[in-house]
Amino acid sequence: MKLNDVGQPTLDLFAAAVAAAAGAWPLVGSGDKFAVDQAAVDAMRHSLKNADFGGVIVIGEGEKDEAPMLFNGELIGAGLRPDYDIAVDPIDGTALAAAGVEGAVSVIAATQRGKMLDCKDVFYMKKLVTGVEGKGVCDIDMTPTENIVALAAAKEIAVTDLRVAVINKPRNKHVIEEVESTGATWVSFDEGDVAMAVAAATGDSGIDMLLGVGGCPEGIVTACAVQVLGAHMQGRLAPSDPDELERALEAGHDLEKKLELGDMVWGDRFIFVLAGVTDGLLVRGIEETSGGLEIQSFLLDSDLDEGHILDVRVEREN
Ligand code: FBP
Repeated sequence: MKLNDVGQPTLDLFAAAVAAAAGAWPLVGSGDKFAVDQAAVDAMRHSLKNADFGGVIVIGEGEKDEAPMLFNGELIGAGLRPDYDIAVDPIDGTALAAAGVEGAVSVIAATQRGKMLDCKDVFYMKKLVTGVEGKGVCDIDMTPTENIVALAAAKEIAVTDLRVAVINKPRNKHVIEEVESTGATWVSFDEGDVAMAVAAATGDSGIDMLLGVGGCPEGIVTACAVQVLGAHMQGRLAPSDPDELERALEAGHDLEKKLELGDMVWGDRFIFVLAGVTDGLLVRGIEETSGGLEIQSFLLDSDLDEGHILDVRVEREN
């Protein structure tokens, strides 16, 4: 199928990601990450209000960051049968957007109804993401060293040419040290692991692998993209404190279980849209022109033959 033939819900999801990016834009660089997030949430929610498809938000805003709206269970498309599960991240990298630095994006993704892991009770997930070469080669139960050596061999490149992204948080210190000890390059980033993980899955972005513990909702959003790309991802829920652990166990999650990609999102329809807010690996950030805002998006839809980079102009609100 060609891009011109794209229908619902892709069009509405695309519009929602673009709306969230545009909504956040006036607050980029403001230093107020809550205001950035709120503006993006409001704009995405407003955009989805008149959606021409029915969906349920399974991965919502809010639980971890206590952000309001677009909550788990909220229905999209008034009165329409909810045929889709929706994952939203109106801004991934709110601190980056607030600081006006690289890496902030707006993201939304979908599967068929009932085919997205509901992990609202767990905020963190250990992740392994690679391009297709890592399938059957890399495993979340192997050490970072083993995975790096195995992926380098599969890609027929030297370990020292491998670039491994790990979000720079104290909990990932041992992973970062091990990556560096192999001679591979540690790609350090402070926030925004959706774009980084999807970059690793594309295989040609300059990121070969993503490792470490990041957000769980972000992991599910990422999984939609990895499915379309035919790439490799595994995860394991990783509650960060006793409260989260208790909630996870009460919700019935198996914390030992290795989550294969198909345990995170499954079925045969996956859609993923990422709109740039500030410059990033996959798309450039918003550019202001006399006519409005130029917003670049990365669109993946399992019904399309390939991924697309799309530029749209959004009129500036006065
Ligand atoms: P937000 O923009 O929602 O704050 O998320 C940013 C982010 O860096 C995610 O990309 C990542 O998965 C998660 O936070 C990691 O959480 P934490 O900052 O609590 O370590």
